[in-house]
Amino acid sequence: MLTHGVDQIRSVVATLESDIANGPIVPTVTPHEIRSYLGSRYDFTKPMALDDVTADVERMMRRWQVQVTHPRYFGLFNPSVTLASVIADTLVAMYNPQLATWRTSPAANEIERHTLAWLAGKFGLPAGTAASFTTGGAEANLSAVIVALTRAFPGYGEDGLRSLSASPAIYLTREAHDSFNKVAHMTGIGRRALRTVATGRDLKMDLEDLARRVAEDRRNGLAPVMVIGTAGTTAAGAIDPLRDLARFCRLEKLWFHVDAAWGGAAILSPRLRGHLAGIDAADSITCDAHKWFSVPMGAGMFFCRHPDAVAETFRAQTSYMPGKTAGPFVDPYTTSVQWSRRFIGLKLFLALAEHGESGYVEMIEHQARMGDLLRESIARAGWRIVNNTPLPLVCFTRDGLATGRFLAELYERQIAWMSEVRLGAGAPVVRACITSFRTNPSDIEWVVREMGRLVAEESEVNA
Ligand SMILES: Cc1ncc(COP(=O)(O)O)c(C=O)c1O
Repeated sequence: MLTHGVDQIRSVVATLESDIANGPIVPTVTPHEIRSYLGSRYDFTKPMALDDVTADVERMMRRWQVQVTHPRYFGLFNPSVTLASVIADTLVAMYNPQLATWRTSPAANEIERHTLAWLAGKFGLPAGTAASFTTGGAEANLSAVIVALTRAFPGYGEDGLRSLSASPAIYLTREAHDSFNKVAHMTGIGRRALRTVATGRDLKMDLEDLARRVAEDRRNGLAPVMVIGTAGTTAAGAIDPLRDLARFCRLEKLWFHVDAAWGGAAILSPRLRGHLAGIDAADSITCDAHKWFSVPMGAGMFFCRHPDAVAETFRAQTSYMPGKTAGPFVDPYTTSVQWSRRFIGLKLFLALAEHGESGYVEMIEHQARMGDLLRESIARAGWRIVNNTPLPLVCFTRDGLATGRFLAELYERQIAWMSEVRLGAGAPVVRACITSFRTNPSDIEWVVREMGRLVAEESEVNA
């Protein structure tokens, strides 16, 4: 049983954490270097010792990847991971449960159901909310759009888009996640069905513009279906006015989806949850466990307050699957995009059970405090902050900064991993997001000091 190995995994993970924290963050490697290495060692003609291969792969992962669990990885939201979630993924790989049907994996299905129901309650969704683990936020967003279309157009499932008398329209801002562009293509509605609503200077959806666009589209014969509010935009951490959007959608009979892939975890925090007010009125919600819940990829979640619409959307029945189980159960292959299903939810369940809600609140609020510290330190050091969010994400610049060159230097000197982003139609700026519960004040002070040194050296060279 793995129980006997927990201490060993704990010790391996602790050593790795410290090695990563004291090592480089950004690799310098070319595709050619990796390909010739693989080509020279792995032609698969002869068996190799598993110990040797494991050691070799681990060496490659240590040398040839951005270390997203490094405390100075201030990147796109790839978190450091809890020990419990690593153990959970090991257990899942060992037992390989199949969650397509309830009957095949009753324990796993009920563990997922229990975990999802707990989080649905935190969001303020009603009992009986349909929920499933997904591979990530993109799949959850896809689920939302398919279910919304199925509910809005009863013919969509059988006869597809050609049965619709008007073209569907979905409203979001430029700051919404780009997965919706793929979703628009995949669902057949086309990218032009995405109607871009203006944002204010704070990058939040402008309600007046939304109302104007919906009215205009109706006049022009389109069929407005859905509004997507983002709770924590990827680029800048902006939170759309969820309560107002919910009210508008209710009045206009539109589906209200909240993409809280990253920001959703803030619902646990007494300090932050007020910023998500209105999320309880959503028709559907995307929230990723593999972002701010700090578990390994891929673990997204999809919640929908209309279980009937979900069941209608994903219904399936074949003789080769075990028959439907009688009783208050669902077979996940009939209520979600996936068919065969990995036991995705165990990593969230185990981590929640180990840390408890209070442990999670502490982790999330620690990161929010580190975000505040980063923001204050950067501003004090003379940088200009260009975003405004309660979440731990800082976008900044300074006059004359060549963002690309600055980031290249940052990587070269292994100071930190940050990225470049454009907010609205603005010029590129630097984006730094606290994604690790291990980031400490000393990391932040050091990074801001080193950034200052870098800029000073650059201006000396240019002088
Ligand atoms: C707001 C938002 N929605 C959706 C996604 C897509 O999530 P995933 O990468 O888990 O598919 C992201 C990813 O960063 C995101 O930030």
